[in-house]
Amino acid sequence: MKVRRFSTAALATVYVAAQVESLITREAEPVLGLATGSTPINLYRQLVEFHRQGLSFSHVTTINLDEYVGLQADHPQSYRRFMDDNLFSQVDIPPSNTFLPNGMAPNLDRECGRYDAILDAHPIDLQILGIGRNGHIGFNEPDISLKTQTHVIDLTEDTIRANARFFSTEAEVPTRAITMGIQSILQAKAIFLMAFGRDKAWAVQRALSGEVSTEVPASFLQMHPNVTFVLDEEAAEMLDDPHAAVLGHENLGSRL
Ligand code: PGA
Repeated sequence: MKVRRFSTAALATVYVAAQVESLITREAEPVLGLATGSTPINLYRQLVEFHRQGLSFSHVTTINLDEYVGLQADHPQSYRRFMDDNLFSQVDIPPSNTFLPNGMAPNLDRECGRYDAILDAHPIDLQILGIGRNGHIGFNEPDISLKTQTHVIDLTEDTIRANARFFSTEAEVPTRAITMGIQSILQAKAIFLMAFGRDKAWAVQRALSGEVSTEVPASFLQMHPNVTFVLDEEAAEMLDDPHAAVLGHENLGSRL
Protein backbone atom coordinates (compact mmCIF):
# COMPACT_ATOMS: atom_id res chain seq x y z
CA MET A 1 0.00 0.00 0.00
CA LYS A 2 1.18 3.50 -0.72
CA VAL A 3 1.38 6.10 2.03
CA ARG A 4 1.35 9.85 1.34
CA ARG A 5 2.11 11.96 4.40
CA PHE A 6 1.37 15.68 4.47
CA SER A 7 2.19 18.25 7.13
CA THR A 8 -1.46 19.31 7.31
CA ALA A 9 -4.87 17.82 6.60
CA ALA A 10 -5.54 20.75 4.27
CA LEU A 11 -2.64 19.82 1.99
CA ALA A 12 -3.62 16.15 2.08
CA THR A 13 -7.15 17.08 1.09
CA VAL A 14 -6.00 19.08 -1.95
CA TYR A 15 -3.96 16.08 -3.05
CA VAL A 16 -7.03 13.80 -2.95
CA ALA A 17 -9.23 16.42 -4.63
CA ALA A 18 -6.71 16.60 -7.48
CA GLN A 19 -6.94 12.81 -7.92
CA VAL A 20 -10.72 13.07 -8.13
CA GLU A 21 -10.52 15.96 -10.58
CA SER A 22 -8.11 14.02 -12.76
CA LEU A 23 -10.50 11.03 -12.89
CA ILE A 24 -13.50 13.22 -13.66
CA THR A 25 -11.75 14.99 -16.53
CA ARG A 26 -10.25 11.75 -17.92
CA GLU A 27 -13.20 9.34 -17.89
CA ALA A 28 -16.42 9.54 -19.90
CA GLU A 29 -18.51 7.94 -17.13
CA PRO A 30 -16.52 8.07 -13.88
CA VAL A 31 -17.90 6.35 -10.79
CA LEU A 32 -16.85 7.73 -7.41
CA GLY A 33 -17.28 5.80 -4.16
CA LEU A 34 -17.91 8.39 -1.46
CA ALA A 35 -17.73 8.56 2.32
CA THR A 36 -19.28 10.80 4.96
CA GLY A 37 -17.94 12.00 8.33
CA SER A 38 -15.65 14.88 9.33
CA THR A 39 -12.69 13.70 7.28
CA PRO A 40 -13.97 14.26 3.73
CA ILE A 41 -15.89 17.51 4.38
CA ASN A 42 -13.05 19.67 3.12
CA LEU A 43 -12.55 17.37 0.15
CA TYR A 44 -16.11 18.12 -0.89
CA ARG A 45 -15.53 21.83 -0.27
CA GLN A 46 -12.50 21.66 -2.56
CA LEU A 47 -14.46 19.81 -5.26
CA VAL A 48 -17.19 22.46 -5.07
CA GLU A 49 -14.46 25.05 -5.54
CA PHE A 50 -13.17 23.15 -8.60
CA HIS A 51 -16.74 23.09 -9.92
CA ARG A 52 -16.98 26.87 -9.53
CA GLN A 53 -13.81 27.07 -11.61
CA GLY A 54 -15.38 24.95 -14.38
CA LEU A 55 -15.17 21.27 -13.40
CA SER A 56 -18.43 19.57 -14.43
CA PHE A 57 -19.98 16.64 -12.56
CA SER A 58 -22.75 16.12 -15.10
CA HIS A 59 -21.31 12.78 -16.25
CA VAL A 60 -20.33 11.51 -12.76
CA THR A 61 -22.02 8.72 -10.79
CA THR A 62 -21.51 8.49 -7.03
CA ILE A 63 -22.10 5.55 -4.72
CA ASN A 64 -21.87 6.13 -0.97
CA LEU A 65 -20.61 3.60 1.51
CA ASP A 66 -23.35 3.64 4.09
CA GLU A 67 -26.43 5.14 5.71
CA TYR A 68 -28.01 5.03 9.14
CA VAL A 69 -31.09 2.84 9.58
CA GLY A 70 -34.15 4.78 10.73
CA LEU A 71 -33.31 8.37 9.73
CA GLN A 72 -35.43 10.06 7.06
CA ALA A 73 -33.41 11.24 4.04
CA ASP A 74 -33.90 14.88 5.09
CA HIS A 75 -32.91 14.32 8.75
CA PRO A 76 -30.01 16.70 9.48
CA GLN A 77 -27.75 13.76 10.40
CA SER A 78 -28.69 11.36 7.60
CA TYR A 79 -25.84 10.66 5.22
CA ARG A 80 -28.12 11.50 2.27
CA ARG A 81 -28.57 14.96 3.75
CA PHE A 82 -24.82 15.25 4.43
CA MET A 83 -24.04 14.50 0.79
CA ASP A 84 -26.79 16.78 -0.54
CA ASP A 85 -25.62 19.66 1.65
CA ASN A 86 -21.87 19.26 1.23
CA LEU A 87 -21.62 18.27 -2.42
CA PHE A 88 -24.56 17.27 -4.57
CA SER A 89 -26.61 20.47 -4.23
CA GLN A 90 -23.54 22.58 -5.03
CA VAL A 91 -22.40 20.89 -8.24
CA ASP A 92 -24.12 19.92 -11.48
CA ILE A 93 -24.42 16.18 -10.77
CA PRO A 94 -27.85 14.79 -11.76
CA PRO A 95 -29.56 13.67 -8.52
CA SER A 96 -30.46 10.37 -10.22
CA ASN A 97 -26.71 9.62 -10.51
CA THR A 98 -26.22 9.74 -6.72
CA PHE A 99 -26.73 6.53 -4.78
CA LEU A 100 -26.93 5.90 -1.05
CA PRO A 101 -28.60 3.02 0.79
CA ASN A 102 -32.14 3.83 1.93
CA GLY A 103 -32.14 3.45 5.70
CA MET A 104 -35.92 3.82 5.79
CA ALA A 105 -36.61 0.92 3.41
CA PRO A 106 -39.42 -1.27 4.80
CA ASN A 107 -37.49 -4.41 3.86
CA LEU A 108 -33.82 -3.89 4.70
CA ASP A 109 -32.69 -7.22 3.23
CA ARG A 110 -34.24 -6.29 -0.09
CA GLU A 111 -32.62 -2.86 0.17
CA CYS A 112 -29.20 -4.50 0.60
CA GLY A 113 -29.84 -6.58 -2.53
CA ARG A 114 -30.89 -3.45 -4.43
CA TYR A 115 -27.65 -1.75 -3.42
CA ASP A 116 -25.51 -4.69 -4.49
CA ALA A 117 -27.21 -4.57 -7.90
CA ILE A 118 -26.32 -0.86 -8.15
CA LEU A 119 -22.72 -1.69 -7.30
CA ASP A 120 -22.65 -4.43 -9.94
CA ALA A 121 -23.99 -2.03 -12.55
CA HIS A 122 -21.53 0.77 -11.67
CA PRO A 123 -18.03 -0.52 -10.87
CA ILE A 124 -16.28 2.09 -8.73
CA ASP A 125 -13.25 3.78 -10.29
CA LEU A 126 -12.08 5.67 -7.21
CA GLN A 127 -13.20 4.97 -3.65
CA ILE A 128 -12.79 7.58 -0.90
CA LEU A 129 -12.57 6.10 2.58
CA GLY A 130 -12.26 7.45 6.09
CA ILE A 131 -11.32 5.13 8.94
CA GLY A 132 -12.87 4.69 12.38
CA ARG A 133 -10.75 4.90 15.52
CA ASN A 134 -11.44 1.19 15.86
CA GLY A 135 -10.33 0.43 12.28
CA HIS A 136 -13.75 0.28 10.68
CA ILE A 137 -14.25 1.23 7.03
CA GLY A 138 -17.72 2.19 5.93
CA PHE A 139 -19.63 0.71 8.84
CA ASN A 140 -17.79 -2.61 8.68
CA GLU A 141 -17.16 -2.83 12.41
CA PRO A 142 -14.56 -5.06 14.11
CA ASP A 143 -16.09 -8.50 14.62
CA ILE A 144 -15.25 -12.19 14.58
CA SER A 145 -16.34 -12.30 10.95
CA LEU A 146 -17.05 -9.77 8.22
CA LYS A 147 -19.75 -9.73 5.58
CA THR A 148 -18.66 -9.35 1.99
CA GLN A 149 -21.75 -7.69 0.50
CA THR A 150 -24.07 -4.88 1.55
CA HIS A 151 -25.62 -5.64 4.93
CA VAL A 152 -27.23 -4.22 8.06
CA ILE A 153 -24.85 -3.83 10.99
CA ASP A 154 -25.19 -3.07 14.70
CA LEU A 155 -22.88 -0.15 15.43
CA THR A 156 -20.31 -0.64 18.18
CA GLU A 157 -20.43 1.45 21.34
CA ASP A 158 -17.19 3.12 20.27
CA THR A 159 -18.71 4.23 16.95
CA ILE A 160 -21.93 5.41 18.60
CA ARG A 161 -19.87 7.43 21.09
CA ALA A 162 -17.69 8.88 18.30
CA ASN A 163 -20.74 9.87 16.23
CA ALA A 164 -22.67 11.31 19.19
CA ARG A 165 -20.87 14.61 18.57
CA PHE A 166 -23.21 15.20 15.63
CA PHE A 167 -26.41 14.60 17.66
CA SER A 168 -27.88 16.42 20.69
CA THR A 169 -27.58 13.30 22.86
CA GLU A 170 -25.92 9.90 22.51
CA ALA A 171 -29.37 8.29 22.79
CA GLU A 172 -30.34 9.86 19.45
CA VAL A 173 -27.54 8.14 17.52
CA PRO A 174 -29.01 5.31 15.44
CA THR A 175 -27.75 1.92 16.55
CA ARG A 176 -27.86 0.29 13.12
CA ALA A 177 -26.67 1.14 9.64
CA ILE A 178 -26.61 -0.29 6.13
CA THR A 179 -23.09 -0.56 4.78
CA MET A 180 -21.31 -1.76 1.70
CA GLY A 181 -19.38 -4.94 2.52
CA ILE A 182 -15.64 -5.42 2.49
CA GLN A 183 -15.60 -7.22 -0.84
CA SER A 184 -17.55 -4.44 -2.53
CA ILE A 185 -15.06 -1.89 -1.19
CA LEU A 186 -12.14 -3.99 -2.42
CA GLN A 187 -13.63 -4.10 -5.92
CA ALA A 188 -12.94 -0.40 -6.47
CA LYS A 189 -10.15 0.14 -8.99
CA ALA A 190 -8.35 2.64 -6.75
CA ILE A 191 -8.84 3.46 -3.08
CA PHE A 192 -7.79 6.61 -1.20
CA LEU A 193 -8.10 6.29 2.57
CA MET A 194 -7.92 9.67 4.31
CA ALA A 195 -7.04 9.86 8.01
CA PHE A 196 -6.30 12.98 10.01
CA GLY A 197 -5.53 13.48 13.67
CA ARG A 198 -3.93 11.55 16.46
CA ASP A 199 -7.03 9.55 17.33
CA LYS A 200 -6.68 7.74 13.98
CA ALA A 201 -3.00 6.85 14.45
CA TRP A 202 -3.61 3.44 16.00
CA ALA A 203 -6.07 2.34 13.32
CA VAL A 204 -3.76 3.58 10.55
CA GLN A 205 -0.74 1.76 11.92
CA ARG A 206 -2.70 -1.42 12.50
CA ALA A 207 -4.33 -1.32 9.06
CA LEU A 208 -1.07 -0.76 7.24
CA SER A 209 1.26 -3.03 9.17
CA GLY A 210 -0.74 -5.41 11.33
CA GLU A 211 -2.15 -8.81 10.45
CA VAL A 212 -5.13 -8.94 8.13
CA SER A 213 -7.88 -9.49 10.64
CA THR A 214 -11.62 -9.00 10.99
CA GLU A 215 -10.79 -7.21 14.25
CA VAL A 216 -9.40 -4.35 12.15
CA PRO A 217 -11.53 -4.27 8.99
CA ALA A 218 -9.26 -1.70 7.31
CA SER A 219 -6.44 -4.27 7.39
CA PHE A 220 -8.22 -6.02 4.49
CA LEU A 221 -7.06 -3.14 2.30
CA GLN A 222 -3.66 -4.85 2.33
CA MET A 223 -5.18 -7.32 -0.14
CA HIS A 224 -5.95 -4.58 -2.70
CA PRO A 225 -3.35 -3.67 -5.36
CA ASN A 226 -4.04 0.08 -5.52
CA VAL A 227 -4.60 1.67 -2.11
CA THR A 228 -3.14 4.99 -0.96
CA PHE A 229 -3.30 6.11 2.66
CA VAL A 230 -3.36 9.92 2.71
CA LEU A 231 -2.35 11.12 6.16
CA ASP A 232 -1.51 14.19 8.14
CA GLU A 233 1.45 14.03 10.52
CA GLU A 234 -0.65 13.12 13.55
CA ALA A 235 -2.41 10.21 11.86
CA ALA A 236 0.99 8.97 10.66
CA GLU A 237 2.53 9.27 14.12
CA MET A 238 2.56 5.59 15.06
CA LEU A 239 4.10 4.52 11.77
CA ASP A 240 7.35 5.69 13.34
CA ASP A 241 6.58 3.93 16.63
CA PRO A 242 5.14 0.50 15.78
CA HIS A 243 5.33 -0.64 19.41
CA ALA A 244 2.56 1.79 20.30
CA ALA A 245 0.14 -0.17 18.14
CA VAL A 246 0.58 -3.31 20.21
CA LEU A 247 -1.84 -1.68 22.63
CA GLY A 248 -5.50 -1.68 21.61
CA HIS A 249 -6.89 1.71 20.60
CA GLU A 250 -9.02 1.70 23.74
CA ASN A 251 -5.90 1.26 25.91
CA LEU A 252 -3.93 4.17 24.58
CA GLY A 253 -5.56 6.58 27.00
CA SER A 254 -3.55 9.75 27.30
CA ARG A 255 -1.56 8.99 24.16
CA LEU A 256 -4.58 9.90 22.06
P1 PGA B 1 -14.72 10.72 10.70
O1 PGA B 1 -15.29 9.23 10.57
O2 PGA B 1 -14.30 11.13 9.33
O3 PGA B 1 -15.91 11.53 11.20
O4 PGA B 1 -13.60 10.68 11.65
C1 PGA B 1 -14.59 8.30 9.82
C2 PGA B 1 -15.20 6.93 10.02
O5 PGA B 1 -15.71 6.67 11.12
O6 PGA B 1 -15.13 6.12 9.10
